[in-house]
Amino acid sequence: MRLDIISIFPEYFAPLDVSLIGKARERGTLDVRVHQLRDWAYDVHRTVDDTPYGGGPGMVMKPEVWGEAIDAVIGASAIPSGARSGGYAQGPGEDEGRGEGEARATPQPSATGSVGPQPVVPGADAQTTVEPGTVEPGTVEPATVASRTPALPRMIVPTPSGRPFSQELAQELAQEPWLLFACGRYEGIDSRVMEEYSGRLRVDEVSIGDYVLAGGEVAVLVMVEAVGRLLPGVLGNAQSVVDDSFAPGSMENLVEGPVYTKPPVWRGHEVPAVLLSGHHGNVARWRRDEALRRTVRNRPELAAALDPAKLDKHDRKLLDELSFRVRRKDVAN
Ligand code: ADE
Repeated sequence: MRLDIISIFPEYFAPLDVSLIGKARERGTLDVRVHQLRDWAYDVHRTVDDTPYGGGPGMVMKPEVWGEAIDAVIGASAIPSGARSGGYAQGPGEDEGRGEGEARATPQPSATGSVGPQPVVPGADAQTTVEPGTVEPGTVEPATVASRTPALPRMIVPTPSGRPFSQELAQELAQEPWLLFACGRYEGIDSRVMEEYSGRLRVDEVSIGDYVLAGGEVAVLVMVEAVGRLLPGVLGNAQSVVDDSFAPGSMENLVEGPVYTKPPVWRGHEVPAVLLSGHHGNVARWRRDEALRRTVRNRPELAAALDPAKLDKHDRKLLDELSFRVRRKDVAN
């Protein structure tokens, strides 16, 4: 899978070098490219925002800069070799105010003929940021990545006003060969950007929860981790994905119950005997009971949405005991 991320804070994505996602990148399962939005700004201050029409507090991200950036990132894909000719330029200053850095008057064509800066590509074979000018112009991506890259990505815009991110959406996104994340800051991105690209790409505005973050970067980290761990070969045990909380299938609308490891007794707390019994059927039943208990306790709204047709007699009895009755007429035998 290829992931492009456009942001004014590329540094936010350093954690993608680590752990499961870092290893997936090393192996070439994930090809992550982080782009500095300001590289597509025109003025000397590399401005990416302006005051909102209609008044109000805060600033809105300018459509022209986003348009240039997205065109360059999705357009560059048409060139199959995808040469790496430089890293992202740091935005002017660490804060979100207007910076004072140097700006290019016009984005420069790169070695590939694409317009705009080439991304850092710490993908299949690079984990470190590539300094501009240090990579030979002829450097080419592994053929596997280039040949797998489809014509256009699915675009995800993190925003608190988007559709909720869920395990189901993570599974859907994990089927995509190419995702482009556009990280807004301030009050968000001028809406015409989403309107413009909706004509060409599948565009989803997505929220990771009912709270407001300072920008989309952390939301993208969350989504990349949730999607990345679902890719084939990323988790050691493929069954983990099936047993996940919320996983479509038998865990739909359920959260997982408690887990234990050795020793069997710790500070007087015992591991439930059934887990030591070696009886797989009983262990599975116990796990499901615990998932139901926890869901009722911590997530009653999910428990209310359990599909009665997917509950067996034992489930219903347990839910009754927990005083969480599923309407009889909805229950299939
Ligand atoms: N940007 C700011 N808050 C967000 C949220 N809750 N989800 C996604 N993107 C965001």
